[in-house]
Amino acid sequence: MKITTASGIPVADNQNSLTAGPRGPVLLQDFHLIEKLQHFNRERIPERVVHAKGSGAYGTFTVTNDITKYTKAKLFAEVGKQTETFLRFSTVGGEKGSADTERDPRGFAVRFYTEEGNWDLVGNNTPVFFLKDGIKFPDFIHTQKRDSQTNLKSPTAMFDFWSRTPESLHQVTTLFSSRGTPDGYRHMHGFGSHTYSLINEAGERVYVKWHFLTQQGIKNLSVDEATRIAGTDPDYSQRDLFNAIAGGDFPRWDVKVQVATEAELAAWEARTGWNPFDLTKVWPHADFPLVTVGVLELNRNPVNYHAEVEQAALSPSNVVPGMGYSPDKMLQARLFAYHDAQLYRVGTNHQHLPVNAPRCPFHNHQRDGAMAGANGGAAVNYDPVQSQGSNPHGMGHGEPPLALEGAAGRYDGRGKEDDYTQAGDLFRLMPADEQQKLFNNIAGPLSQVSAEIIARQLAHFDQADAAYGAGVRQALKARGVNVA
Ligand code: HEM
Repeated sequence: MKITTASGIPVADNQNSLTAGPRGPVLLQDFHLIEKLQHFNRERIPERVVHAKGSGAYGTFTVTNDITKYTKAKLFAEVGKQTETFLRFSTVGGEKGSADTERDPRGFAVRFYTEEGNWDLVGNNTPVFFLKDGIKFPDFIHTQKRDSQTNLKSPTAMFDFWSRTPESLHQVTTLFSSRGTPDGYRHMHGFGSHTYSLINEAGERVYVKWHFLTQQGIKNLSVDEATRIAGTDPDYSQRDLFNAIAGGDFPRWDVKVQVATEAELAAWEARTGWNPFDLTKVWPHADFPLVTVGVLELNRNPVNYHAEVEQAALSPSNVVPGMGYSPDKMLQARLFAYHDAQLYRVGTNHQHLPVNAPRCPFHNHQRDGAMAGANGGAAVNYDPVQSQGSNPHGMGHGEPPLALEGAAGRYDGRGKEDDYTQAGDLFRLMPADEQQKLFNNIAGPLSQVSAEIIARQLAHFDQADAAYGAGVRQALKARGVNVA
């Protein structure tokens, strides 16, 4: 293939700069050389502030069960209906070049290119999170990233934060269990994690939690395997996913949803004391069983990683008619954060890029800015223009009004909300050998921090389950740590 400049002009010579005589110097008019160096200098965009290391693939979502009584979202309109999807997996705390097998939650961010716009469910491989209020997120992430001075990861920062933030205990227990080091991206579940809502044709709302259950089966790496692979094949999960899809071994997840009416949640809250919109809590399956929705299959590798995966910009704010949010403090912060991050990371017009553009026609009055694509063409660039078919104004596409209550204020739930029972329940669910792994996985980094932080963190394990605290103490002692 003939090499050209970016403007399509055939390049005379891509191996030898234009010089005055065979030894040079190089002439400024070698525009091809200059353009080549300039573009190279601008190849990087900022990595994601979190979830920087990731892998993506396209796929198909197929409806297998009718949920139209809960939602009018068109992608669920009939059994058998298919929707194109894009899924980006990731680790959270590491940089773009970090190892895939680090102990970390895994991102599970799915985009559905529906006929009424993109629905992005930006979740993790865990049903809960470390926090219940987004105001703590930047501080929390600072404890997962590098220390300001040493530029090292800091177990002290991590456990200092966790031990002062008991709401984190449920997710900390998940993180240090075997599920903290999944064997690649195909062998783990995905969760929307937050409570979202669905709205049906009649304008009735139910609350839901989304689940993606791997058909490949859960497989985790042992600590030793994860550590070895981090050195020998740091891109292990990327390789596994790409090769599986390239070889026609398409990974699949069963898509399920837990459904609850407002009244059911109110009754559940009255019984358990748990806020159903608290992201550190699960809805136990015994209380809210899983309803089958469909199957998600990944079946197409991106052609260009940077264009399609690095520049992918998913946001939890992207919900389509027939869906809505919930009164979850964490979710509110996220509804703002993603698009804002993408305006900086990718640019003002990131939605014009092929991986981000909806597959359905779209029309608005946003214009211009850097890298504008079709930019609305000749269409009028202002509203209201009823003759062009503006949608009814206001949020929500027929979503019923949501009753909110309470006086504006900053409410501190610490010490008043139950941060221990569900963490203890998860611990008690684990077989003895898994509990032992949990103790050891925690004791590794915990043994490196001060006695004060250890004591504070052990008190949380004790409250979740006496055997949990005792097990971690034992594992610390085995590492030579003197604990009471
Ligand atoms: C208030 C809390 C949170 C804030 C402020 C926040 C913020 C962010 C930001 C700014 C990004 C980078 C977006 C981009 O540049 O494209 C990101 C990525 C991501 N976040 Fe969060 N996040 C929060 C909590 C969560 C939670 C609870 C989950 C999962 C349940 C989650 C899952 C993800 C995933 C999967 C990605 C990567 C998306 C991709 O693959 O492109 N985050 N987050």
